[in-house]
Amino acid sequence: MLEQFRIIVVDDDQPHLEALCSQLQEAGFDVNGFSDSTVALEQLTSQRFDVLFIRLQLTGVDGIELVQRAQQLDPDLSTVLITDQGSIKTAIDALKFGVLDYVLMPLKLSELMQVTNRAIQMRKLRLENTQLIRDLSNSNLRLREMNHELDHFAGRVAHDLNSLCHIIQGFAGSLTRRAYNKLDEQEQRYLLRINEASARGSQLVSDLLAFARLGSGELQFNQVVLNEVVEKARALVELKEGLRKADWSIAILPDIDGDESLLELVFVNLFSNALKFSQIRELPTIVVEANVLDDVVEIKVIDNGAGFDPERAEGLFKPFHRLHNPHDFEGHGMGLANVKRIVERHGGYIKATSAPDKGAVFTLTLPIRGATPPNR
Ligand SMILES: Nc1ncnc2c1ncn2[C@@H]1O[C@H](COP(=O)(O)OP(=O)(O)O)[C@@H](O)[C@H]1O
Ligand SMILES: [Mg+2]
Repeated sequence: MLEQFRIIVVDDDQPHLEALCSQLQEAGFDVNGFSDSTVALEQLTSQRFDVLFIRLQLTGVDGIELVQRAQQLDPDLSTVLITDQGSIKTAIDALKFGVLDYVLMPLKLSELMQVTNRAIQMRKLRLENTQLIRDLSNSNLRLREMNHELDHFAGRVAHDLNSLCHIIQGFAGSLTRRAYNKLDEQEQRYLLRINEASARGSQLVSDLLAFARLGSGELQFNQVVLNEVVEKARALVELKEGLRKADWSIAILPDIDGDESLLELVFVNLFSNALKFSQIRELPTIVVEANVLDDVVEIKVIDNGAGFDPERAEGLFKPFHRLHNPHDFEGHGMGLANVKRIVERHGGYIKATSAPDKGAVFTLTLPIRGATPPNR
C-alpha cells in the first residue's frame, strides 16, 4: 500500500537532501529529491506526488510561494516544511497556507517517520474527500438530468393526452348540438357524462402539463398588480363554476415581482377549492387578507367550508393527494401541487390550517421584490 505513495523532497542543501531522501527510501517510500526548485516545480507539474518536503529557506526562492504554487497544482498535496530553530515562527505561520506540518533540523528519524505517516494519512483522507465530493456532485447532476427527463416525459404524455381529450370534447360537443334532442333520456345522460369526463380529463392533463413545466421551465418575471390577478382569477373561477356562488371579500394587495400567469394559476386553484368546499354552507364566504411584513407579503385565502383534518394533511401539497371523498367533492388532486411549485419557484412558501367542518386557511408568503427568477 505504502509504495504507491510518492514523496518529493526540495532542499538546496545537497548533503541534507541526500540524507533525507535515503532515510525515506530506507523506510520504503518512493522518493524523488531535487535541489533546484525550478526543476522541482516542473516535476510537480508533470507528475503526481503525494507528499512534498520542502526547505523553508531555499536560497533565492520564497519557499512559501513555491508551496502555494504546488498546492495550486494539486490542492490535496500534503506539504511538510523543513526548517531550523531560527525560522520556527515562519513555519508555524505557513500552516495557515495549508502546510500540514514542519520538521526541525537536525532531523530525528522517529519524528520524521511520524510526520511522514501523518502526511500520508492526510493525503489519503483528502483524496477520499475529493472523490466523495466528485461522486456527490456527479450523482447530483445525474439526478437533475433524470428529473428533467422525467418532467419532459410527463410533459410529452400530457401534451398527447390533451390532444385526445380535445378530440373527444369536440365530437361530443358536435353530437350534443346536432343530435341531443333526438336522443332518449338515457342517451342524453350518456352524452352528458362523456362531456363531463372529457372536460375533467382535459383539466387534469393541463394541470399535469403545468406541473411538468413548472419543474424545469423558465419563469417570466415582471411587476405584477396582484389585485388585478386576483380579480381575474376570481372571474375565471366564477365563470367555470357557474352555479357556485359565494360572498367574496378581497383586501388591497401590494404589487410584487413574479410570473403573472403562474400567480393567476395559484389563485385560480385556491379560489376554486374555496368555492368548491364552501358550497355546503348556506352562505359560502371567501376572504382574501394581506399582510405586508418587511419584504414579503403574507396572503391568506380563507373559506368557511368543509375544512379538513390537519392530522391527515401531511401530503396535502403532493400530486394526487386528496383528503375528501370524490363522491362529496370532485377533483383530481393536482391543484395544490401546482400551487406549491409556483409559490416555491417565486422564493415563497405555503401552508394550510384547518379543522373538520371549520373552513380552511391557506397562507402564502411571497417575496415582494423577487430577485432573478429561480430557474432550474
Ligand atoms: N379550501 C379547502 N377546504 C378543504 N379542503 C381543501 C381545500 N383546498 C384543498 N383541500 C383538500 O386538499 C385536496 C387537494 O386539493 P387540490 O390539489 O386542489 O385537489 P382537488 O381540488 O382536485 O381535489 C382536496 O381534495 C381537499 O381534500
Ligand atoms: Mg383543487
